[in-house]
Amino acid sequence: MSELNFNLRMASEQDAVTISALSIQVFLDTYATEGVRPDLAREAHCEYAIEAFVQRLIEPQRRFILAEYLSADRNGLLGFAEVLLTVKPSPAGNLAGAELVRLYIQPKAHRMGCGRSLLTRAEQLVQAEKLDSLWLTAWEGNRNARAFYERVGYADVGATTYTFQGQTYANRVLAKQFD
Ligand SMILES: CC(C)(COP(=O)(O)OP(=O)(O)OC[C@H]1O[C@@H](n2cnc3c(N)ncnc32)[C@H](O)[C@@H]1OP(=O)(O)O)[C@@H](O)C(=O)NCCC(=O)NCCS
Repeated sequence: MSELNFNLRMASEQDAVTISALSIQVFLDTYATEGVRPDLAREAHCEYAIEAFVQRLIEPQRRFILAEYLSADRNGLLGFAEVLLTVKPSPAGNLAGAELVRLYIQPKAHRMGCGRSLLTRAEQLVQAEKLDSLWLTAWEGNRNARAFYERVGYADVGATTYTFQGQTYANRVLAKQFD
C-alpha cells in the first residue's frame, strides 16, 4: 500500500458541493465503462445533484464521513461513506440493521486504505447506536467492490435488484453482523 495522508471527519451541509462532484466522478468511473449513456448521465445529474446531497445531509439519521487529503493550505475530498443509522430490513438475508448507502473513493486514491478507514468509522457509528448489523447492496458486476467487501469481512447474504432510469440491474446484498 502506498502512503496517503488523510484525515476523517463528519460532514456538514456545507460539504454538499464537494460530495456531489466526487460522487459524479466515482459513479461514472465505476459504471460508465462503455461510455456515458443518457440513463447514467441522468442518474448522475439527478441523484448526485448538490441539492440532493443537501437534503440527505440534513436528515437526522443519515451520516456522512469524509476522508480528506491533508495539505498545508486546503484539504481536498478523497472519499466518503454515507450510512443510515436506523433499523432497516435488508432486501435479502433477513437482517434488520443500518444501511451503508454509499462508499465512494476517488479513483486515484483506490487501494490506499481510505475505504477501509471510512468503513471502520461507519461500523463504529453503527455499534454506538446498538444496531446489530451493517448491510449494503453492490452491483453484481462491480468486482472491485465485491473483492473489497470480502476482504474487509462482509458476507454475501443474497440477491436483489436495483432499478434506475427504467433499467434493472442484478445486485448482491453484503453484510457484517456485530455481537
Ligand atoms: C470499493 C472501494 C470503496 C474500496 O476502497 P479502497 O480505498 O480502494 O480500499 P482499501 O485501500 O481501503 O482496501 C482495503 C482492503 O481491500 C483490498 N481491496 C481493495 N480493492 C480491492 C480490489 N479491487 N480487489 C481486491 N482487493 C481489494 C485492499 O487490498 C485492502 O486489503 P489489505 O488491507 O489486506 O491490503 C473503492 O475502490 C471505490 O470507491 N470504488 C468505486 C465505488 C464503488 O464501487 N463503491 C462501492 C459500491 S457498493
